[in-house]
Amino acid sequence: MCGIVGYVGADEVAPILLDGLSRLEYRGYDSAGIAVWSGQDGMQVVKAKGRLQVLSDIVAGGKNVTGSIGLGHTRWATHGEPSDVNSHPQVSEQGRFAVVHNGIIENYMQIKEFLQSRGVRFVSQTDTEVVAQLLEYYYDGDLMGAVSKVLHRIEGAYALGILCADCPDKLVAIRKDSPLVVGLGEGFNLLASDVTAMIKYTREVYYLDDGEIAVLDKDGVQVYDGYFQPVEKELHHVDWEISAAEKGGYEHFMFKEIMEQPKAIRDTVFPRIQDGKVVLDDFTITKEYLEELDKIYIIACGSSYYVGMVAKYNFEKLLRKPVEVALASEFRYCEPIVTDKTLALVISQSGETIDTLAAMREAKRLGARVLSIVNVVGSTIARESDDVIYTWAGPEIAVATTKAYSTQLAVTYLLGLKFAELLNTISDEDYGELVRALLTIPSKIEEILAHKEDIQHYAALYFNHNSVFFIGRNLDYAVSLEGSLKLKEICYIHSEAYAAGELKHGPISLVEDGTLVVALASCTNLFDKLMSNVKEVKARGADVLGISIESQREELHKSVDAAILVPDIHPMLLPSLDVIPMQLFAYYVALMRGCDIDKPRNLAKSVTVE
Ligand code: F6R
Repeated sequence: MCGIVGYVGADEVAPILLDGLSRLEYRGYDSAGIAVWSGQDGMQVVKAKGRLQVLSDIVAGGKNVTGSIGLGHTRWATHGEPSDVNSHPQVSEQGRFAVVHNGIIENYMQIKEFLQSRGVRFVSQTDTEVVAQLLEYYYDGDLMGAVSKVLHRIEGAYALGILCADCPDKLVAIRKDSPLVVGLGEGFNLLASDVTAMIKYTREVYYLDDGEIAVLDKDGVQVYDGYFQPVEKELHHVDWEISAAEKGGYEHFMFKEIMEQPKAIRDTVFPRIQDGKVVLDDFTITKEYLEELDKIYIIACGSSYYVGMVAKYNFEKLLRKPVEVALASEFRYCEPIVTDKTLALVISQSGETIDTLAAMREAKRLGARVLSIVNVVGSTIARESDDVIYTWAGPEIAVATTKAYSTQLAVTYLLGLKFAELLNTISDEDYGELVRALLTIPSKIEEILAHKEDIQHYAALYFNHNSVFFIGRNLDYAVSLEGSLKLKEICYIHSEAYAAGELKHGPISLVEDGTLVVALASCTNLFDKLMSNVKEVKARGADVLGISIESQREELHKSVDAAILVPDIHPMLLPSLDVIPMQLFAYYVALMRGCDIDKPRNLAKSVTVE
């Protein structure tokens, strides 16, 4: 979603803002803009619909706009279509305030009507313009006084960057329910939606907490709480390399991230297996707690939710405890049955997804203990959880997740083992077998990746289909949901994943000559049943691409038109292998259809609006 960058220092700011925005492009956006102040030219605002390159061309890579304080923004439209005028920064009528915003001002209409009744003229359809106009309305020479009054008036979720022409040595950054990070440099300071935008300039950061306000000038940063009392912030050092957020010779981030999965899983899993046992640092859940547990409630969105679907099958099998998986956006409004004996397992790559965050807070309010699986260190979900297990996937830049999904899956295996060990629901033999199998996942994924050309071949056969079904049973069903989502997201193909047994209850009416059905048949105990479903769709004209394990090679070939085989592995871990060909298939199909793979239309990486 919207990306924010701000800089105050001694250097020319426009190229720094453009560079920072280019590193936030992955978040998804439809327009971009910058506001730069200089003594000579005053407040200069340049905005353009479309890719960042359009803006960059207008300002000649930043050379046309001079000044050493400014704000930049990439917009993902919520209120008002993507257009130059609706792009940020939004500026107050008299041009004194420039504002960039990520989030939604929920009561913007009331404020707009109030200001209009007092003669203020609006030019955009955005909710953000009310913040700029309201600042101007309240401003009487005291910047922080105006900020304070605005904060009392606005409702919703926001990360805000504010530049005031009367205080041109300061940037104000405000955070409520939308991420914002402050970077500390020598003779300059920065703000941004996430650290990727600032890592080139500094690695020392403050993660702002909800309700905090930061005032940056070139020599320092002061952070205040919601009552404008100074806050001592903990300094964090970001230790990943900038190359981790660069393509490094690959054509697309998504492909790079698919290829990085063996390493990401090794980094996530191997240090946590010691002497054949799962060891989780800072993990405070006890045997006594687990014994009392009434339910595990898994809460997440999108692919993270699909990880939860896999985890449900495995946890229930391993632990014999009820597990419910909830879409975060539904959880809050379904009067969930949560007690102080409920464990909320929250899964989020970004750690900032607003629905997941809100659902997690609701679960906590109802008494649940929160354990989260998060990729971004210092993110809000990580900080507000009772326990957090990080996925060490490194920064994921492509909008469509691959390595974050795979590392989240890996963490659920670790958790399943840990819980089963504590609850004593697994024999030593089964435990040892599962741990040993877990350690083979990265090398088995490498085997699949080494044959990626086979999958490219099938993509070439089927890339023209406009309707695809994924079918599977049990874990195969759970992972096919992710395969189907990949195809929707990056190939713009309408695809549905069904529990194969459900087909006959309705969706089979859609199967006709040439419909592509991807049949996941790696759960050997359900192989024959799945093949019956394959026969049913073939009888109605479908082309079937089957995915199964090597040991089913012969049987699979008998029933399907094309077959992809993955190495055999412990049945509970199959999703980690099955997902790889589905990711590659979607990638190659998207490539053949000429889609914008890393930045699919309408999508954003970190979904910070409800
Ligand atoms: C799909 C994808 C999304 C995310 C979802 C949740 O490829 O990436 O469906 O999984 O938006 O995001 P996080 O995990 O950051 O909470």
